[in-house]
Amino acid sequence: MKTAQTIQEAREFCRAHRVRNARIGLVPTMGALHEGHLALVRAARSKADVVVVSIFVNPTQFGPNEDFAKYPRSFERDCELLEREDVDILFAPSADEMYPTENATWVEVQRLSERLCGKSRPGHFRGVATVVSKLFHIIEPDVAFFGQKDAAQVAIIRRMVRDLNLPVEIEVCPIVRETDGLAMSSRNAYLNPEERKSALVLYRSLQRTRTMFDAGERRSEKLIAAAKEEFTGEPRARLDYLEIVDPDTLESQSMIRQRALVAVAAFVGTTRLIDNILLGT
Ligand code: PAJ
Repeated sequence: MKTAQTIQEAREFCRAHRVRNARIGLVPTMGALHEGHLALVRAARSKADVVVVSIFVNPTQFGPNEDFAKYPRSFERDCELLEREDVDILFAPSADEMYPTENATWVEVQRLSERLCGKSRPGHFRGVATVVSKLFHIIEPDVAFFGQKDAAQVAIIRRMVRDLNLPVEIEVCPIVRETDGLAMSSRNAYLNPEERKSALVLYRSLQRTRTMFDAGERRSEKLIAAAKEEFTGEPRARLDYLEIVDPDTLESQSMIRQRALVAVAAFVGTTRLIDNILLGT
């Protein structure tokens, strides 16, 4: 595995492959890698000739009172895991390399970026869309891999690619969960043992909507009320939002017609976790 810390190096490594018409796959991450990230890497390995993984804890997607400074970092271990997955190129730039001067140019996907997590994390999706478009311009991948875990992020990236005619295919991989159902997340490392148990309430609330949906319920109000009930029995968890939306526009749906995204965000202790499921065909 080659490691590039500068944009110039990353460009040189990728260009060498592009001239021989290799298909380049990019997996953008913020490191502290777990099986969820590795599933994306494996998908990339199976669908691209050259696998590029980026590790960059992007400061512009964190709010002033969020966990940028204490976000888990485990670079050595991440490198070992990526070596084992037969990754070709690791791009791990510094913040100064990615943002040498104060950023003046932003990519903002209007409306979508104000929904779901965008409501409680203003500016978050502007930071995500901006850094992902920078990564796309640096690596110039043919295909990029994202996790369904961050469903709003997927909708926003897809929309950005469409609106800006970016020549990249977007592949979305299913959520990887712990055996008890908790969605894997780098932030799970913040949870103490009691919080770890309480964190299951997110998945439980989603499962409740699935059971009702399978039994024929299509009214979002009913599904949401039942899901929210799960939270009343879990004092360590504080619900941020639980919504049923269109998976592409992220607009609320009062009645599920075809496909719907049930998305939840909650604080467990001080840790903010998210999860979601798709209902329908
Ligand atoms: P990060 O949280 O490190 O996630 C990197 C990728 O892994 C994202 O596409 C995310 O959806 C996916 N992922 C995380 N947990 C997963 C799980 N349990 N199952 C499946 N996929 C999972 O998302 C980001 O970083 C950043 O916003 C980034 C896109 C890198 C831009 O900075």
